[in-house]
Amino acid sequence: MKLVTCGLPYANGKAHIGHLRTYVPADVYVRYLRMLGEDVVFVCGSDCHGTPIVVNAEQQGLTPKQLVDIYHEHFKKIFAELDIEFDYYGRTDAEYHHHRTKEIVKRLIEKGYVYPKDIDLAYCPKCERFLPDRYVEGICPYCGATARGDECDQGCGRHLEPGEIKEPKCKICGSKAEFRSQKHYFFKLTEFKDFLEDYLSKLRGTENALNYAKNWVKNLRDWCITRNLEWGVSFPGEENLVVYVWVDAPIGYISFTEKACENKGCDWKEIWIHGSCEIIHFIGLDIVYHHCIFWPAMLKGADYALPSAVVASGMVKVEGKTFSKSRGYVVWVEDDYLKAGLSPDYLRYYIVNYTSHQKDLNFSWEVFRDKVNNEIIATLGNFLYRVLLFAWKNFGEVKMDDVDGEILQKISEAKEKIENAIEEWEFKVTSDAFMELATFGNVYFQNAKPWELIKTDKEVAGRVVASCLQLAKALIIFAYPVMPRSMAKMAEAVGLDIKACKLEDAVKVDEVVSLKKPQVPFEKIEDEKLDELQEIMEKRFRGEEVGEVGDTKEEITIEDFQRLDIRIGKIVSAEKVKGSKKLIKLIIDIGDEHRQIVSGIAEDYKPEELEGKLVVVLANLKPAKFMGVESRGMILAAEKDGKAILLTLEKDVEPGTRVC
Ligand code: MSP
Ligand code: ZN
Repeated sequence: MKLVTCGLPYANGKAHIGHLRTYVPADVYVRYLRMLGEDVVFVCGSDCHGTPIVVNAEQQGLTPKQLVDIYHEHFKKIFAELDIEFDYYGRTDAEYHHHRTKEIVKRLIEKGYVYPKDIDLAYCPKCERFLPDRYVEGICPYCGATARGDECDQGCGRHLEPGEIKEPKCKICGSKAEFRSQKHYFFKLTEFKDFLEDYLSKLRGTENALNYAKNWVKNLRDWCITRNLEWGVSFPGEENLVVYVWVDAPIGYISFTEKACENKGCDWKEIWIHGSCEIIHFIGLDIVYHHCIFWPAMLKGADYALPSAVVASGMVKVEGKTFSKSRGYVVWVEDDYLKAGLSPDYLRYYIVNYTSHQKDLNFSWEVFRDKVNNEIIATLGNFLYRVLLFAWKNFGEVKMDDVDGEILQKISEAKEKIENAIEEWEFKVTSDAFMELATFGNVYFQNAKPWELIKTDKEVAGRVVASCLQLAKALIIFAYPVMPRSMAKMAEAVGLDIKACKLEDAVKVDEVVSLKKPQVPFEKIEDEKLDELQEIMEKRFRGEEVGEVGDTKEEITIEDFQRLDIRIGKIVSAEKVKGSKKLIKLIIDIGDEHRQIVSGIAEDYKPEELEGKLVVVLANLKPAKFMGVESRGMILAAEKDGKAILLTLEKDVEPGTRVC
């Protein structure tokens, strides 16, 4: 048996393509393993603790639990829609997870691996609280970049220990923080140096992860494992402390395995205590330290079994730029992709096939268009559909007794390539292997011309068709782990029970194949749709608000509408915002006050045209700053060919008149 896990997504925001870089290949891997006859347990779940979640909830006026509920459901839905099928998808705020975490922490304490120490911590005198992790921002002591309390996220990427950050500032109120002493608990990571060196020399996985880890192990420091928070797994014996999120999160791999085993009827202890199974972690390159240093040391200290491989995917770029949600270099799985009605299989193929698993993956709609049109549709889809349709129309049932030896040879070669690539976590190689096989198939079909043969010699045509059908069957099996939805559809046409198929079935020749009318395997994507998606992406790069694709919004009630304070305003003065092409600063009479509103219409209207105009104002919009200029509200406009056209009134009314 093998256990495969995926890095737990923070239940703190929506799923983006960066997440999928880990989850899709892991799902593909598990599906291939199962087709190789392996018994696999595949688990993941939401990471529900940590300061980002607490800070975010606070900002949105929600409790951490409410926030986590929202995103936990979101991730579950995304995984279902992308056919990423975990045996168990748990959450770390669940009782069973707290239980397992406390058990492990207690064990580490009992075994003498944990000690208390007074340390100087960032403290906000104004908020009157200690500032753990994301509550504090300052300067990285190693590289001087702006950093968060626990991570130099914009500079050298180092993990920072509490108290290490320089010039700390409170994230909540912006005040300068001071350092105050407080008792915290430390894990004796330094005692595990020899163990880790030895362990890392045997650990399998991707080179990138292993190389980093081997370097880091030379310089270990003890690790502070408690935080001043209320949300989290409470630290045994200390009311006011919880364990650091990176202590409890990986323990999710264990607690979710317990749950998965309850459902599957296997024994989690075989995996996590007796070590009789391989444990394989799929993660992104950003969390190698936690998985190759902290985690094995904790497991060793608490007498648990050790992971056998850490498979780290390279990071994701968007249109060649470093992934960044704030700068708009992001693709949201739901809003940008699924709502556009695109097949999950296209994205799965893109992610797997773009490059080696270890390298950075660049996402661009242009490349997406190419891959879908030229590879998925014109190569794989074309072969499958042509062969299956021809066979169904002309034969209905095909005797398979004379399949071409060359075809069987090619299938065997592809199978071998796939098996070897799976061993090395090179999913690009697996997907190239079936795509090359499809290319070969197209040439074979084209050269053999069965549509001509059938007019003169149906038996010879039948042999060509049998050979092509065998190839089609192999392709369906080989491509299924990457594109399960479309291949399941194709499997029906040849009467294949795809869920029960093994890779070796690809080389087995049946006596006859009875065909059903095939469905079209892949839907073409219209150029206009792709242009629209490209436009959304570019708008986001420019920092403009973007609606969802298709722009169908959910229904609202009249009460929802009544929350908007929409009024008529009269523009008193207008001037361009210095240093900006687009922005104009307006002072608008809205009845009881003169409001300053910044609007992005400078390319469409001149300031002098605007003065005196009646406009429609959304007056209770949260204030925001544009190029340092405050804006309190928004004026409404329609858009035509990228130009703004202001809404005005049919007859004049007094400024301040309500719109209802
Ligand atoms: N909660 C932690 C993981 C805890 S594991 C015990 C976390 N969460 S995350 O939501 O930020 O990321 C979830 C997974 O997606 C991680 O494996 C992470 O490496 C991966 N990725 C998130 N963003 C990514 C990119 N932009 N590119 C590639 N993978 C990335 O980390
Ligand atoms: Zn740094």
